[in-house]
Amino acid sequence: ISDKKLIIAIDGHSSCGKSTVAKDLAKKINYTYIDSGAMYRVVTLFAMRNALINDDKVDENKLSHLIDQVSISFQYNDEKQRHETYLNGELVEDEIRSLAVSNNVSLIAKIKFVREKMVAFQRELSKEGGVIMDGRDIGTVVFPNAELKIFMTADVEVRAIRRYKELKDKGEEISLDDIRENVKKRDFIDENRDESPLRKANDAIVLNNSKLSKEEQLDWIVERMNEVV
Ligand code: DC
Repeated sequence: ISDKKLIIAIDGHSSCGKSTVAKDLAKKINYTYIDSGAMYRVVTLFAMRNALINDDKVDENKLSHLIDQVSISFQYNDEKQRHETYLNGELVEDEIRSLAVSNNVSLIAKIKFVREKMVAFQRELSKEGGVIMDGRDIGTVVFPNAELKIFMTADVEVRAIRRYKELKDKGEEISLDDIRENVKKRDFIDENRDESPLRKANDAIVLNNSKLSKEEQLDWIVERMNEVV
């Protein structure tokens, strides 16, 4: 692997393991991992705490006035071996992954001024290069000149079963049919919103990981990296 500090953009569907691969790769090649989805989740939590979301509607006017009070930061927790997200210095990693936040985040992620602010922050954090960022618009909007763009996906059924097992392990009672519907619904929302919809960038390479192990995915990406440097 070359010493050049690249920007690696990983976009793709929900629940296809983007963040797992991005984190493992960052560790392996000593890059910084940035979770752009966590940023939209933090703003969502902030909006919920300030009662700005009611009946699936966001008070955009108030949010536009309050958003400058939102400061997002990330830290790696060595003990727990995980990346953690902070809102104004408060650890909110678990809260932003809750079902309540997941259910509201697409309402926040479609707001133009929110996206502009997040994109500016994402670019600021990546100034030095050596970054792997995952999301929905990283290769298309945030870093159109990224050296390597990967569009990750997996078959709907595979993603539904993975998510089902994850939730089962957490003790949640939920049916595979419901999860499959939720996966499809999230794909639809991500791909059809007006602001920065999920699209494969023209120069992105597709990684369908339905039948690949984690190791195989990492090897595949490292091979692609070596092709672009
Ligand atoms: O990757 P995730 O599931 O944590 O993302 C949470 C939400 O944020 C999801 O609804 C898609 C949205 N998102 C986005 O619009 N743009 C990004 N770059 C990352 C996430």
